[in-house]
Amino acid sequence: MGVSRGGFSSRLGFIMAAAGSAVGLGNIWGFPTQTASNGGAAFVLVYLVLAFCLAYPAFMAELLIGRYGQANAVTSMQKIARNTREKRFGFVVGFGGIICAALILSFYGIIAGWMISYAVEPLALLAGFNESANWLTNHSLTRNILFTTCFMALTIFIIRRGVEQGIEKWSKRLMPMLIGLLILLIIYVFTLDGSRAGFEAYLNPDISRVLEPDLLISALGQAFFSLSLGTSVMIIYGSYIAKKENLVTLGAQVTLIDVSIAFLAGLLIIPAMYVAQAQGVAIFAEDGSLISGSNLVFTVLPALFSGMGYVGLFVAFGFFVLMSIAALTSSISMLEGPVSFAVERHDIPREKATTMIGLGILLLSTIIVVNLDWMLDFVAILSTQYGQPIIAMLCCIFAGWVWQRSGILAEIKQGNAEVEHSVFWKIWPWYTKFVCPTAIALVFWHSLAS
Ligand code: PHE
Repeated sequence: MGVSRGGFSSRLGFIMAAAGSAVGLGNIWGFPTQTASNGGAAFVLVYLVLAFCLAYPAFMAELLIGRYGQANAVTSMQKIARNTREKRFGFVVGFGGIICAALILSFYGIIAGWMISYAVEPLALLAGFNESANWLTNHSLTRNILFTTCFMALTIFIIRRGVEQGIEKWSKRLMPMLIGLLILLIIYVFTLDGSRAGFEAYLNPDISRVLEPDLLISALGQAFFSLSLGTSVMIIYGSYIAKKENLVTLGAQVTLIDVSIAFLAGLLIIPAMYVAQAQGVAIFAEDGSLISGSNLVFTVLPALFSGMGYVGLFVAFGFFVLMSIAALTSSISMLEGPVSFAVERHDIPREKATTMIGLGILLLSTIIVVNLDWMLDFVAILSTQYGQPIIAMLCCIFAGWVWQRSGILAEIKQGNAEVEHSVFWKIWPWYTKFVCPTAIALVFWHSLAS
């Protein structure tokens, strides 16, 4: 590891940071929403299978490229390339991922800002500032700009401090808090009337639905978004891992944490929706499906919390703090991609690069906020439904077709001397070469078609 670039000081530090990137609004908001709109437990089952069988191999490709390159996404890919054509390909994939991460951050920061304002609202109510509380939960331009700026400031603050003092230190603090809060909330919801029906809907799969094409494809897309693939993030995090670490196990552990937290989030949100229903809140849309999208988090849950009376203020605070934390450990990973590129390729000092890029992304967020009605969806779709699958697919193609097998083996053997004889090595190379790109192409084709 280069002395000047820093890196994760411990295995736990990496696990917390990578899991922190993976666990975000996608898990706590997106996953339950998708579960609700895709047949409950059947979706959960398919998601679990696809996360391990397809997203994990693609995730390994990105981690391996990064650890081999020990540099930002572009440099790492170019170190593998052997000729100008491959180097150009490496640039397109690496830089494409960096742009994609910046675009995702520009809209993610807005939603995360809402989470913070919803976390502050119960505090305002407790303090008796009812009018301010109202303002905090009403979509106004000023509120949106203010809270997006707050969230971006936090992200910039952490990334300016670098890998060990920034990303690692904060992920190690925030992730356990997140898991603890999530479990406390689940236990609380479990004690409420109506939650039983929710657990049923969540845990009892309708097996006849598992092969529905829409369900399969949504689950795959969700798994890729959740593991932060196609954004250069896992390449750069991979580059901060020491050579003595066993990447196969580390990757599996991060995938397991990501999937478990999505699972836990579903275990909170779906039963919470049924509790809300027991309290008279409408949770089904006109077509009979559970309501989803932003309604879920910003309408149903606050209604549920206010039904709890005084204690609901604390629960609401806990829940939205949890969402903000989850978003923050993801946003720092998104900012690290472009920052590491600017620092390593253009010799810009880290603090300056972070502030400049952070402010640039904030400017884009502000433009989106001003044109919220069309631009939020546009940027979200562009980056997550187009950008991410294409770049993740190109990454697999790069690892499968450009990088020589012997080179990959030499890299993966560091920290895992026996890997050559493992099941992983028997399956992963051809999987990444053929199955992953094809499956991702399918997701992409689906999002085009819809
Ligand atoms: N994986 C994050 C989530 O689930 C989102 C993310 C996407 C983070 C891309 C980094 C890069 O919310």
